[in-house]
Amino acid sequence: MPRGKYIWFDGELVEWSEARVHVMSHALHYGSAAFEGIRCYSTGEGTTVVFRLDDHLKRFQYSMSVLGMVSKYSLDELRDAVIQVVRANGLGDGYIRPIAFYNMDDYLGIDLSRYGDRYSIAIGGWSYGKYLGEAFGKGSRVKTSRWRRLSRFSVPLDAKISGYYVNSVIARLGGRGVDEVLLLDEWGYVAECSGENIFVVKNGLLYTPPVSSDILPGITRDTVILLAREVLGVEVVEKRLLLSELYKADEVFMVGTAAEVSPVVEIDGFTIGDGNPGRITRRIQDLYEDVVRGKVDRYKYWLTIIDE
Ligand SMILES: Cc1ncc(COP(=O)(O)O)c(C=O)c1O
Repeated sequence: MPRGKYIWFDGELVEWSEARVHVMSHALHYGSAAFEGIRCYSTGEGTTVVFRLDDHLKRFQYSMSVLGMVSKYSLDELRDAVIQVVRANGLGDGYIRPIAFYNMDDYLGIDLSRYGDRYSIAIGGWSYGKYLGEAFGKGSRVKTSRWRRLSRFSVPLDAKISGYYVNSVIARLGGRGVDEVLLLDEWGYVAECSGENIFVVKNGLLYTPPVSSDILPGITRDTVILLAREVLGVEVVEKRLLLSELYKADEVFMVGTAAEVSPVVEIDGFTIGDGNPGRITRRIQDLYEDVVRGKVDRYKYWLTIIDE
């Protein structure tokens, strides 16, 4: 990942190399941090746009509240901080990473109830291309992990908390040789990939696991459901999915801020469809690309426009 030049750190822009934390920081030991992944895009007209910024920042504030962090910055202040990061780093196509983390080095207890204000916020940003590299175009090979997705009865899964991600990281370590890993929920239904939600096309309909399948209800998932229904007129059904329904699907694709809309062409050695990215997948991929770059008037309200 290419480094950015400046990081917004507790209200100020500092050089990338100066944004440091202590080795005894609480968050390093227990994953007590909330974060977001946001993308910005160049429109090709001297303007950079951030996609669904307020939705990401609202989820960020919610994730922070789950960790007991008291509010220090309003939505307007956080939005302004992200805009500063985009401008300071001269981002066109880029990735923005806000993180709020308990940074005290003098308390390593588990009870944070008296420490709700002892956190820092950092926002980094860097130029970014395709998360899944070549697989974005030709389709990913995916393997099911032996590890199950964290349960919604253990943690509030609609928050993006750093500690949860050891589940994805350990699952991903078992996927050597493939592009991505798929996790099942504890009941054996399809949940999601290590960093993406999943969709299936069968007989012209779109299916995706419901929130009760222990997924992170992604902002890209929400975007794709809306675009499929409103623009393409494709019906979307949220239902529990068996792995075998994926193996015999016509098309499968993954969605997420980083991965955008990425086709899947093989799961556990089963070829999906004819082994090439499917027609509906391609239409959604193209439409998503147009929407995030501000080419579709109807969805311009999702964009925060930053003039260079
Ligand atoms: C585990 C997981 N699921 C799904 C997603 C997709 O979420 P979003 O579309 O909000 O980026 C992500 C990425 O943030 C993720 O980490």
